[in-house]
Amino acid sequence: MSIQLKTSAEIEKMRVAGRLAAEVLEMIGEHVRAGISTGELDRICHRHIVEKQGAIPAPLNYRGFPRATCISVNHVVCHGIPSERKILKNGDILNIDITVIKDGFHGDTSKMFFVGNAPEHARRLVRVARECLFKGIEAARPGARLGDIGHIIQRHGEAHHYGIVREYCGHGIGRAFHEDPQVLHYGTPGTGVELEAGMTFTIEPMLNAGTRHTRLSTQDGWTVTTRDRRLSAQWEHTIAIHEGGCEVLTLREEER
Ligand code: MF3
Ligand code: CO
Ligand code: CO
Repeated sequence: MSIQLKTSAEIEKMRVAGRLAAEVLEMIGEHVRAGISTGELDRICHRHIVEKQGAIPAPLNYRGFPRATCISVNHVVCHGIPSERKILKNGDILNIDITVIKDGFHGDTSKMFFVGNAPEHARRLVRVARECLFKGIEAARPGARLGDIGHIIQRHGEAHHYGIVREYCGHGIGRAFHEDPQVLHYGTPGTGVELEAGMTFTIEPMLNAGTRHTRLSTQDGWTVTTRDRRLSAQWEHTIAIHEGGCEVLTLREEER
């Protein structure tokens, strides 16, 4: 495949899809508390997307994924499968990753939540992961290269002695969930694809408290965990490159 540049009419549709995905994260926050299952959180999101938004949850049946959202708790890096058996407890940290399809276009975004009082070391990991995302976004403009984005994320994460996950990356997005290019969260400045107006892609760094190495569940074929079972954190936005800068299509009210 190759990079599909979007017209302004297509970016307008992605703006709509992005806004809907962001709204799901805004909606679900009040439901995140000790005692609720990740399966229940998924069901609330699923219903909201289908019934309130008239949209489609992209993960459901994507390459056989069984639920509408990915919910990744503590040492789960990404692609956690929501389950009625996974009950949140005080001190947990979790990522909820929402992708919706509206009018043929995808919006993909994720955010970290705390359950009650998370320990300071967990909060620090979550904060630095978010800083990595926004440093990547700030570097995204025409003329910059993907290696610039990867490098700035890697440098900030590693300055805090966190492991930057390499097996999973950001991606072009549009009519397809995952398009070219791959957006690595590590790299060398001045290398890789040069950004130009009309590109739409995600940035979604995953930072591990310990080693960067991951393990893929052989049980379900989806759940990715840290090898050392220490915590992991991830944040994701979908962005569009414009003349002179970029636009975050999945920005939430709390971030404005
Ligand atoms: N939303 C994830 C991403 O950021 C992809 C999830 S694929 C699924 O790219 F099948 F697990 F849903
Ligand atoms: Co994504
Ligand atoms: Co996502």
